[in-house]
Parts: sequence; structure tokens; C-alpha cells
Amino acid sequence: MAIERTLSIIKPDAVAKNVIGQIYTRFENAGLKIVASRMAQLSRAEAEGFYAVHRERPFFKDLVDFMVSGPVMIQVLEGENAIAKNRELMGATDPKKADKGTIRADFADSIDANAVHGSDGADTAKVEIAYFFPALNVYSR
Ligand code: TYD
Repeated sequence: MAIERTLSIIKPDAVAKNVIGQIYTRFENAGLKIVASRMAQLSRAEAEGFYAVHRERPFFKDLVDFMVSGPVMIQVLEGENAIAKNRELMGATDPKKADKGTIRADFADSIDANAVHGSDGADTAKVEIAYFFPALNVYSR
């Protein structure tokens, strides 16, 4: 199985709940290494650029408002099958539909304040990692 990298964000709701460490422990217990990380207060322009694919969706403005509402913790996770593994750990977008024991089932309040982001495929992972960590050599994997 391929060693991959994926972009993860602990969103403002989960940072405010003081559960960064608990979420990091889940990554580590699943065999994912944190190979880059930084805390940031996103500007509107950064949040809009990151979610540009959703620009035409009805929830876009609320999503951007939420993402700039407080600090986020951004990290690159590395490991076997990291993209799918992180999505499994996260659970479904809507925490009401997320499997028991997933990050969203345990820490998220609603579909818009849903604790974490994770890249959904190899192409988006490369773009998203470069967006927040331009100095990281994403093409070595
Ligand atoms: P999406 O990429 O569909 O989900 P995921 O984060 O699981 O990859 O949507 C991006 C974010 O947009 C999602 O995490 C929360 C927000 N969102 C809403 O607020 N309402 C919605 O109906 C959807 C689909 C997403």
C-alpha cells in the first residue's frame, strides 16, 4: 500500500473545545505521522481560496464565516493510505450520520461546525498541502 500525505484541519469549533491533543492521538494511534503543522487564524481570502470549489454552494458564506471565526490547527498527515484513513477517522460530513467513535461523531455539533477537514483524494491532497505548506516538498511522495 502506498505511503501518502493528506491535509488535515482541526476547525475552530474543535480548537475552542480544547481537543487538539485528543484528535492528534487518534491520528497517531491509526499510524498517521504529523509531518508538518501550524496554528493559524485564517483570513477571509485564505478560507475562500481553500474552499473555492464550493463557491457556488448555498452554504459557502456560512462555511467561510465559520472557518474564520477562530484559530484552526492545520497539519499534514503521512502514512499508508493516509487520505482514506483520515477520512475514516473523521466520519461523515454530517456528525448525525457519522459512525460511532469517529472524530465528528465525538466532537462535532453540526454539519457546518464539524470539527475537522481532510483531503478527499490524491489530487486535492497535493493542492491543499501546497496551499498551506508551500515550502513542503509534496512531490517526494
Ligand atoms: P464537503 O467537502 O462536502 O464535506 P467534507 O468536509 O466531509 O469533505 O463540504 C465541505 C464543508 O462544507 C463541510 O465540512 C461543511 C460544509 N458543508 C455545510 O456546511 N453544509 C453542507 O450541506 C455541506 C455538504 C457541507
